Amino acid sequence: MGPLHQPGDSTVVLAIETSCDETGAALIRINPDDSVELLADELASSVQQHAEFGGVVPEIASRAHLEYLTPVVRTVLDSAGISRPDVVAATIGPGLAGALLVGVSAAKAYAGAWQVPFMGINHLAGHVAVDIFEHGPLPECIALLVSGGHTQLLHLKDFSQPITELGATVDDAAGEAYDKVARLLGVGYPGGPEIDRLARTGDPTAIDFPRGMTGPQDAPYDFSFSGLKTSVARYIERAEVNRQTLYTEDVAASFQEAVADVLSAKAVRACRDLGVSNLVVGGGVAANSRLRELLTQRCTENDITLRIPSPRLCTDNGAMIAAVASQVILNGAMPSELTVSAQPGLDVSHTYV
Ligand code: KG4
Ligand code: ZN
Repeated sequence: MGPLHQPGDSTVVLAIETSCDETGAALIRINPDDSVELLADELASSVQQHAEFGGVVPEIASRAHLEYLTPVVRTVLDSAGISRPDVVAATIGPGLAGALLVGVSAAKAYAGAWQVPFMGINHLAGHVAVDIFEHGPLPECIALLVSGGHTQLLHLKDFSQPITELGATVDDAAGEAYDKVARLLGVGYPGGPEIDRLARTGDPTAIDFPRGMTGPQDAPYDFSFSGLKTSVARYIERAEVNRQTLYTEDVAASFQEAVADVLSAKAVRACRDLGVSNLVVGGGVAANSRLRELLTQRCTENDITLRIPSPRLCTDNGAMIAAVASQVILNGAMPSELTVSAQPGLDVSHTYV
């Protein structure tokens, strides 16, 4: 098979995302002038089924994908009035093995039934690429990915070259820290939105929580949040032992300040060190109000253009996979082999497999 898109043609791509707890499907059209149009985007979530466990339960997520995937795909096809796309793409990794397998198997089955090519796409590249739908083509950029599963600083030159990882968390992801601290404070799951809400009426300077991995000897682009989480746990325990009133809002605001401070400082530092003037932010934690505020302030001070997609596109969705597919297809990508399977530990340098 030759390249997936010929100059002057229009190519419709169906993309499927099932790496964690969101079942996503999207349809895009690559137009003859190489512009990319989002035709339809649909999502079903199993997040409430995981709430009582305080985190994603892989088996529950896989079963939910099996139940939701066909209706979600049907919805995007019907709403765009498309009966047969030209390419079917799916997240091939990284993610939960069983969850990925549902989407990859379904995508291959659709591709086989329609006799069209299949593409396996990297989920992390998706969090970076999705911003094209709201802010246009991506220039060279640093990307800060902050979700329940990932906390990374990436460097994208363009989609014809591998994305490189500058640094990542050495322990908990930022969203995981939010979820764990929310559990310590006895508020709901997922914890990020709850802490964000509580923090609005708290004092961010009330408690001086540690800023992990910010010492002169520490790797400048790596992160650590487990010490911060332990520090919050000790603070709450001490208040209980000493029978002091626990000001939950102050704990939430001070914790949130520590996370937003470290994330924004390291992202801006990466831009400055590498001489890159665009910063893209993705992942569920990008919805955090204080992180957005601090990033805006620090990027303005450093002449960095900040690009954050709306919250709907920051969390997992089908459009992010379609976005990567469009960029690599425009760069002349060939279809994936049907023998490739889910790759739970896939590295960011493989934009597609
Ligand atoms: O990207 P995402 O939807 O799923 C993956 O983990 O891949 O991210 C979910 C994470 C959860 O940990 C949730 O607590 C966090 O994003 N989150 C937030 C906010 N909204 C969601 N964290 C901080 N502030 C928020 N407003
Ligand atoms: Zn994600």
